[in-house]
Amino acid sequence: MQVIMDNCQKIPVHVAIIMDGNGRWAKLRGKERFEGHIAGVDSIRECLKAANRNGVKYLTLYAFSTENWGRPAEEVDALMELFCRSVIAETPDLVKEGIRVRLIGRRDRFSEKVRQHLTTIEESTTAGDKLTMVLAFDYSSRDEITMATRTLAQKAAAGEIDVRDINEEMISRSLYTAEIPDPDFIIRTSGECRLSNFLLWQASYAEMYFPEVMWPDFKQNEFDEAIKVYQQRDRRYGKL
Ligand code: FPP
Repeated sequence: MQVIMDNCQKIPVHVAIIMDGNGRWAKLRGKERFEGHIAGVDSIRECLKAANRNGVKYLTLYAFSTENWGRPAEEVDALMELFCRSVIAETPDLVKEGIRVRLIGRRDRFSEKVRQHLTTIEESTTAGDKLTMVLAFDYSSRDEITMATRTLAQKAAAGEIDVRDINEEMISRSLYTAEIPDPDFIIRTSGECRLSNFLLWQASYAEMYFPEVMWPDFKQNEFDEAIKVYQQRDRRYGKL
């Protein structure tokens, strides 16, 4: 089903999603938590299709937060393995669909194998010009802002910039998301209503939506429904 396309301004350029509820989805079905994550990959595929079809240009997915390292090692290992397997399985389709993949977050804490897969998926999809999927992987907003602050402080100490020239634009350009427009619309599934350290700087004027549905059940219809919710919002950016 195609959502309203007669007013292109009403299609968000950038949709960002906190994919929540995999564990609860699995538990409700008497399955292991990990099976919820596997089912969640299917929802990623569905949302990519729906985003592309609706003309969304950036789809950011919170795939692994810096806090997720605190989960039991077996769940962390399983998530890393799932990521590597998904990269191998999905890359041909991503290329075919014109989807570029970009990663935001730290790289230094992954195994060599995971790091290689991160590079592979970014390099193999650079030609994608329809939709950019931004994967937030070992990402947290406070970590990102800390890193940006350190970068600017180092530049100032080296005399490369004047402290008085630091402005919002310069900070934005020092974040992992430099060159990526701020999200217009942030969705968090599973009914939880918080941002959990996700795009805190970039979310300043984003519309938010918290559907009750668990991530593995968030398919193309749910994405289309979310776009309709966005289309009903009146964005004023602090003005009248
Ligand atoms: C949150 O649900 C989900 C995650 C922490 C991981 C999301 C990962 C995937 C959907 C699949 C792997 C990603 C890629 C890029 C292939 P939760 O575990 O916190 O669920 P709960 O709140 O019900 O426990």
